[in-house]
Parts: sequence; structure tokens; C-alpha cells
Amino acid sequence: MAFVVGDNCIKCKYTDCVEVCPVDCFYEGPNFLVIHPDECIDCALCEPECPANAIFSEDEVPEDQQEFIELNAELAEVWPNITEKKDSLPDAEEWDGKEGKLEHLER
Ligand code: SF4
Ligand code: F3S
Repeated sequence: MAFVVGDNCIKCKYTDCVEVCPVDCFYEGPNFLVIHPDECIDCALCEPECPANAIFSEDEVPEDQQEFIELNAELAEVWPNITEKKDSLPDAEEWDGKEGKLEHLER
């Protein structure tokens, strides 16, 4: 099992999560981060760090975000690794909490 980044990370990308990951298994796209499911050791450290509450244990991913499990696995194979916190996206506060952001995902 692994942890999964869900919908509310899109267009926020606060990156607090990467600071605590002991195995550096976050990967970064233009407006979203993903967790590599084969590298995540399920330590749960990142989950409370996300200001957008966008990280879930795989077995607790909400019903309407199930597709993010596969999406994390897919994009972790193509995006570059990120290990240090950076500024959130400029409109992060405005987008935080909006539902159904998947259509805004940039690859
Ligand atoms: Fe990294 Fe632990 Fe979060 Fe997995 S659960 S992504 S290992 S901090
Ligand atoms: Fe995204 Fe939350 Fe990390 S918004 S970048 S999962 S801290």
C-alpha cells in the first residue's frame, strides 16, 4: 500500500509534504505532485503536513477520487523527483478547497 496525492493538490502545490518524506518519493508536475507507490514506505508523515489535506492512505482515498491512485502511479514514472519545499502556486489559496480540479491538471 502507499499514500496517494488527491484532487486538492492541483493548482495549490504547497510542497510541505516533500520536506518530511524519508524516502524522497514525491514527483513534480506543473501544478500537481504525486507519490511513487513502489517507493512510498507508508510512514504517514506527509499526510498531516499538507495544508490542503490532499494526501490520503490508499485505502482511505475518497470514492470520487479513486482514479488518483492510478494517476499517481502513472505520473510518478514520468515526472522529476522533488525533495525540497518551494513556493506554492500563486493562486493556491484561491484554489484550495475547490472541487473537481482534475480538469485543470497540467501534464
Ligand atoms: Fe513519503 Fe511516508 Fe508520505 Fe509515503 S507516507 S509519501 S514514505 S512521507
Ligand atoms: Fe500538494 Fe499538499 Fe504536497 S498541496 S504539494 S500534497 S503539501
